[in-house]
Amino acid sequence: MLRFLTAGESHGRSLVVIVDGLPAGLCVDADALTRDLRRRQHGYGRGRRMAIESDAAVVAAGVRHGRTTGAPVAVTIENRDWVNWAFTMHPDEHPPSGAGGANRGPVTRPRPGHADLAGAIKYGHADIRDVLERASARETAARVAAGALARQVLGQVGIAVASHVISIGPERADARNASFDDIASLADDSPTRCVDDAAAARMIAAIDAAREAGDTLGGVFEVAARGVPAGLGSYAQWDRRLDGRLAQALMSIPAIKAVSIGIGAESARMRGSQVHDEILPPAGSSPGAHASTPAERPTNRAGGLEGGVTNGQEVRVSASMKPIATLMTPLRSIDLATGVEAPAAIERSDVCAVPAAAVVGEAMVALVLADAFLERFGGDSIDEVRGRYEDWQRKVGERFARPRESGTS
Ligand SMILES: Cc1cc2nc3c(=O)[nH]c(=O)nc-3n(C[C@H](O)[C@H](O)[C@H](O)COP(=O)(O)O)c2cc1C
Repeated sequence: MLRFLTAGESHGRSLVVIVDGLPAGLCVDADALTRDLRRRQHGYGRGRRMAIESDAAVVAAGVRHGRTTGAPVAVTIENRDWVNWAFTMHPDEHPPSGAGGANRGPVTRPRPGHADLAGAIKYGHADIRDVLERASARETAARVAAGALARQVLGQVGIAVASHVISIGPERADARNASFDDIASLADDSPTRCVDDAAAARMIAAIDAAREAGDTLGGVFEVAARGVPAGLGSYAQWDRRLDGRLAQALMSIPAIKAVSIGIGAESARMRGSQVHDEILPPAGSSPGAHASTPAERPTNRAGGLEGGVTNGQEVRVSASMKPIATLMTPLRSIDLATGVEAPAAIERSDVCAVPAAAVVGEAMVALVLADAFLERFGGDSIDEVRGRYEDWQRKVGERFARPRESGTS
């Protein structure tokens, strides 16, 4: 089982992630972790914080001379802004006199759409900073580092994961035919992560207009995975369904309010004949199909999952992000210290973070796929994993080759 836990506050000293269950002998490209962290920082509409942070991953445990040992892998990401927050965020009851930054007063006006109010009630905090520092999406940097490790497992068996933005606010891209290569070739620092240039320009204008109004925007992104073999996940038990596991992983990203598998919610308005992907004898190869499927699928509206099991087509999942909850023109709230109506608190904030959320989505999908892959083909070392996978591929190849050969004789 591949699992991970994160710790860290938005303005604390650092973020920490522990990834457990990585096979031994896996080559770890530490620079790839930092590359993914930097990709999460890009995107038009991000706040000033991203200009301060220049995230870098430090591998602190579980890797020797570039290879995993089979022990848990720990990664830390320093918060460069800590120097300006050391006094406010210091773990000591009496911060040392040299601790940097001002002693900021308590936050008492919860922001609608944030964990502020619910968290203050739940944990009994009078200062909402004790809630927002952990509920902040800064935590997703740690997930991206974990996802980069999962991606390295997937890379060993030919699985690649990429993402693109489908819409921001009311502006929607024409991305219906975006191939995996179109998506994967988006520049790391693409401001919108959108494959449709005209829509990208409209998205940027929409973000500018929202910023001017002191408002924010959300949107939709899609994550694609190529090279996924048929047979990951299972219909045999509810919690083994891979569609459910992917939905939970994406839904756990802050501000994600809906997840679609393939064409998702759109399918509810259509007839079955317009939705389901026909199964045809092989006639070449369906784009993106894995060698483990003996069939040609002219369409992939199911997003590579049927019955909660991968079917050998590309996995396609999308997620809808609500607009950022911190508004520079704040909504009405109350002051928890007095009970009197007051505008919601303002924290330094993004206007739109859909492109960044897409990179977090990639990480979560990579972690779920790597977990499902290791569940199916796992071993103590990466050589063992690869060996089992090659064995299975050979057997599947033999199984599906036989009927076709006898049919032609
Ligand atoms: C990459 C990313 C960046 C985000 N940046 C901000 C931000 O700058 N300001 C903000 O108020 N919310 C931001 N959010 C969203 C909040 O973290 C989220 O809405 C909040 O924690 C409440 O969780 P919920 O929306 O899932 O209920 C961001 C989310 C993601 C995925």
